[in-house]
Amino acid sequence: MAVLGLGIQRSMQTRFEDMKGKWALILGVSSGFGAATAKALARAGMNICGLHLDRKSGMPLVDQLVQDLEDLGAKTLFFNCNAADAQKREQVLQDLSEKKIKIHVLLHSLAFGTLKPYLSTEDALGQKHMEMTLDVMAHSLVYWTQGLLAYEVLDRGGRVFAMTSAGGERVWKSYGAVSAAKAALESHIRQLALELAPYEITANSIRAGVTDTPALRKIPGNQHMIELATSKNPFGRLTTPEDVAQAIVALSLPQCSWISGNVLGIDGGENIVD
Ligand SMILES: NC(=O)c1ccc[n+]([C@@H]2O[C@H](COP(=O)([O-])OP(=O)(O)OC[C@H]3O[C@@H](n4cnc5c(N)ncnc54)[C@H](O)[C@@H]3O)[C@@H](O)[C@H]2O)c1
Repeated sequence: MAVLGLGIQRSMQTRFEDMKGKWALILGVSSGFGAATAKALARAGMNICGLHLDRKSGMPLVDQLVQDLEDLGAKTLFFNCNAADAQKREQVLQDLSEKKIKIHVLLHSLAFGTLKPYLSTEDALGQKHMEMTLDVMAHSLVYWTQGLLAYEVLDRGGRVFAMTSAGGERVWKSYGAVSAAKAALESHIRQLALELAPYEITANSIRAGVTDTPALRKIPGNQHMIELATSKNPFGRLTTPEDVAQAIVALSLPQCSWISGNVLGIDGGENIVD
């Protein structure tokens, strides 16, 4: 059994040879799925460029993440800025281009939505809220992909992933704008899968199960959501950021080059149970 385990480990290491020294760009790198995926890709030998939006008080965690990634042997390039700001995007793209960095894996993992009901006499969602949520959580994926191609920094044979949720097709109180953003994000991914195919780049939405992260804790009724997900998940537990990170590493291997245009459930089967 130990010999078999060693064999599998060696064969995985051989597979990771293809990823060594390549770069991932993670939008939303400092927490949750973004941070876990950065670590998992770094373990597979990749370098990490990351964008995040953190106040001074959040920076010690970001510095620790950078240290962890570098301890794993990764080169890092981090930017603390709004990923939906066109000027900032230009600056990052220019930087990547000047440093001759090619992005092999792009992960869109931004959590920045308004969590207000559509209909409320006291605190209803406004037009600005809706536009901001859709812009950050969905449309920014398109602008980043366009920019990476325009600057010729997107690697042939690469991967694009975007984090969606069951909210892309279901409702939850106060989740209307984020739900709309998820539906739009899944649609953008399908379109990108079509338009990126000539570059041999795949695009997939990753539909994670309910996962205990800072973003989840901001959703009104999150405790109820956690209890529901735990009780209905066939595995009897929540999804973890690491579950998703491992799946993204596997999907980034050359062997997965024919998987494109999907919404892939990484949730232990949570979504198939009513
Ligand atoms: N947590 C869940 O249960 C769950 C389930 C399915 C999908 N998702 C989706 O996964 C994605 C990531 O969520 P998470 O739970 O890891 O959240 P998180 O709060 O742990 O991390 C969000 C990250 O986004 C960054 N960020 C937010 N706004 C930004 C901006 N404008 N510019 C740059 N960086 C910005 C933050 O700095 C942070 O690094 C989101 O799209 C979320 O909707 C979450």
